[in-house]
Amino acid sequence: MPKRDNISMSVIRRLPRYYRFLSELKDNGVVRISSRELSDKMGFTASQIRQDLNCFGGFGQQGYGYIVEQLYNEIGNILGLSNRFNAILIGAGNLGRAVSTHMSFESRGFTLTAIFDSNESLIGKKIRDITIQNIDNLEAVCKDRTPDMAILCIPRDSVAALADRLYHLGIKNYWNFSHYDLAIRYPDVIVENVHLSDSLMTLCYRMSNKSEDIREI
Ligand code: NAI
Repeated sequence: MPKRDNISMSVIRRLPRYYRFLSELKDNGVVRISSRELSDKMGFTASQIRQDLNCFGGFGQQGYGYIVEQLYNEIGNILGLSNRFNAILIGAGNLGRAVSTHMSFESRGFTLTAIFDSNESLIGKKIRDITIQNIDNLEAVCKDRTPDMAILCIPRDSVAALADRLYHLGIKNYWNFSHYDLAIRYPDVIVENVHLSDSLMTLCYRMSNKSEDIREI
């Protein structure tokens, strides 16, 4: 198996999609699938699928295909989904509430342990049985156990003011919905930026250039 640090980000970004499709196949009772059938369902070419999975050592057998449950479990292991990384969420507004309510953290490697906001009228309210705490208590709450990751659902300017506190608490991983570029300020952090507007603009491009549309790989 190649060293994990040689695997390209584009392969890694496709893994959750494999995992999702395999989960559906598994739930529908499919036991075995060829790379050709998987390719028809997912819109990736069969050779792309073989190439991607070969990065992690293969898993399929020539002429036999993949055992769905085994591949599903293997990809889950590669993604590290059995981890229980301790996550906190900052900003319990519209977005923070939607993220914390609808995201199944536990099946994706995380446990949401605390929610913070600065708005007095939200403090003490609960989301998913987690009481929203005052951001002023961040250090006290994180004193005994440093969170592995912070989810940022606050405006850009608020992150700029809060970033040093988070960093000095030792929080080095972020799921960042704010439009603040943390990685520029702290080169050693791991950040997954989420920009729904990027996806919308990409859709706009594809609709405006229909004749050239290419399937995503
Ligand atoms: P909102 O105004 O409903 O919620 C923001 C919450 O953050 C408020 O409850 C506020 O009290 C809290 N807050 C502000 N500063 C804080 C601080 N220093 N510490 C703790 N809490 C603080 O806004 P909404 O709709 O939830 O959006 C939040 C941010 O997410 C916005 O800045 C928006 O630009 C961004 N956003 C990003 C999206 C994306 O795709 N990345 C999509 C939608 C919004």
